[in-house]
Amino acid sequence: AAGVASPRDTIVDAVREALVDAFGEKFRDSRPLVTSATKPEFGDYQCNAAMALAKPLKCKPRDVASSLAEKLGPRLSAICEAPEIAGPGFINLRLRDGFVAAKVKSMVGDGERLGVPRVTNPERVVVDFSSPNIAKEMHVGHLRSTIIGDTICRVLEFRGHDVVRLNHVGDWGTQFGMLISHLKEVAPEAIEDGAEDKFNVGDLVTFYKEAKARFDEDDGFKEIARAEVVKLQAGDAESKRAWGVLCEASRRGFQDIYSLLGVELEERGESFYNVMLPDVVSDLESEGLLEESDGAKVVYLEGFESRDGTSQPLLVKKSDGGFMYSTTDLAAIRHRVTTERADRVLYVVDVGQGSHFAQVFQVARRAGFAPEGVQLQHVPFGLVQGEDGKKFKTRAGETVKLSDLLMEAVRIAGESIRKRREEEGGEGYQADEVELERVSKVVGIGAVKYADLSMNRESNYRFSYAKMLSLQGNTAPYMLYAFARVQGIKKKATEGLGDLSGTEISMGTPEEAALARMLLRLPEVLEDLEVDLFPHRLCDYMFELSSQFNRFYENCPVNTGETEEFKGSRTAFCSGTADVIERGLGLLGMGTLDRL
Ligand code: ARG
Repeated sequence: AAGVASPRDTIVDAVREALVDAFGEKFRDSRPLVTSATKPEFGDYQCNAAMALAKPLKCKPRDVASSLAEKLGPRLSAICEAPEIAGPGFINLRLRDGFVAAKVKSMVGDGERLGVPRVTNPERVVVDFSSPNIAKEMHVGHLRSTIIGDTICRVLEFRGHDVVRLNHVGDWGTQFGMLISHLKEVAPEAIEDGAEDKFNVGDLVTFYKEAKARFDEDDGFKEIARAEVVKLQAGDAESKRAWGVLCEASRRGFQDIYSLLGVELEERGESFYNVMLPDVVSDLESEGLLEESDGAKVVYLEGFESRDGTSQPLLVKKSDGGFMYSTTDLAAIRHRVTTERADRVLYVVDVGQGSHFAQVFQVARRAGFAPEGVQLQHVPFGLVQGEDGKKFKTRAGETVKLSDLLMEAVRIAGESIRKRREEEGGEGYQADEVELERVSKVVGIGAVKYADLSMNRESNYRFSYAKMLSLQGNTAPYMLYAFARVQGIKKKATEGLGDLSGTEISMGTPEEAALARMLLRLPEVLEDLEVDLFPHRLCDYMFELSSQFNRFYENCPVNTGETEEFKGSRTAFCSGTADVIERGLGLLGMGTLDRL
């Protein structure tokens, strides 16, 4: 529930009451309740409940609509014009201009929040995102998770939720046997006491490959590596130090990426849950869920069938006593629910892990690790592909290093900005290198983020520098440019005007009326994002807002002096638009610029 209800929330509440009033309590939650109107001529919102109700009520849809509209009209008279019935039984609702103008006025005077209410019952939300693996390259999938997860956190935080950003780093498992054994041989000095952060493993990926190659080819090494796992599990001091050295080296690499992206999150890797794993298994046992299968411990799943039609097992303990990725996730769920007191746990992880999460969630529910009231939600995203739609690789067929990928975007952005400025600046142009570097970073990093966020996260997306850095279309440069422009117009207009907060809004033209309504949609867009976690809707909204602003600016002079009468109101429109775009970009984890 919201602190100050948005227009849509008010309408939804009114429709519910009207349904009860007209047809009785059992129709309170009829669906679909309220949607945005699909065309301006249908007003601002639509209620399509009448069609679905016709059958149970044994009435014509149009008659249902008119009884409903009759009850609805008085309830909404302060904010909407009289409801209109259209087609087979749609109810069209149009916000009153006076209401819209007053709302825009309060939005412009609302400082940072821009009319977006804070939730009155904040939830504790754990967001598990980024989550790369130690001693392996952080790849484009982790980049997507980092970017999408960060935006989700920012939106939830802005709404007033209590967010815990967790990096579930892959820092435990049998692969550490071969890694530590290899490290002990090639760099024994690294594991001397106190040498942890002086050591640089150099190229960890090569290191990983070397260790793996030896493990696969050399039986003697394999034995040593196996024994090493046992030592590590048993808490041997030297093994633990070696493990720490590897983690620390990876951590530095990850941190470089997070710093470039401006993302903060707390590392709580798989190793953190290691001590809890035996309890997870014994508790599954006491809940009567655990079964033996060839010496391993499994939980048989409901609704997951193997090829032969039998129930599929979730393996939680191997016959050699080792635990699984899933076992750790079960422990993590319990810790997040019990110790972190989470109301909602989100996993921003690629779509390929969908069945892993479905299975783990099911077992967590059945074992009572996560009660019904706690929401567990996998937030899946698709693959990153190359421009050709194939796997994302360098020309040489190697996996792309993330820092290279980000810096390349910054480089290309910088080049084109420099070129444009040289053309505009003419003869005596002298670049301000420091400023140029700063601007390139905002544009380049922003472009990588925006390109990702503006796509429906569930689909695969093609990574293209040319597209993401284009000034045309729904891109970061376009939005940053739009912001700089509106901000410039606003600055010029506000000179000598002072505080805009008491400005009366006038909507004498269709462009003003449309822009005002567009500005008021911000709270709805964020409320929706909070529920369904699709950041592209925010990008779409900002793109539409800037097009609407352009139509406004073409038709409604702000700074020409011929319209003194509307100057304050139009300046307020510029201010509202600039602030909404700035807020939107901020929620997407992007910076803004006054000039590109
Ligand atoms: N480290 C895993 C990977 O790279 C992602 C972990 C996601 N989070 C989790 N709780 N399982 O695929």
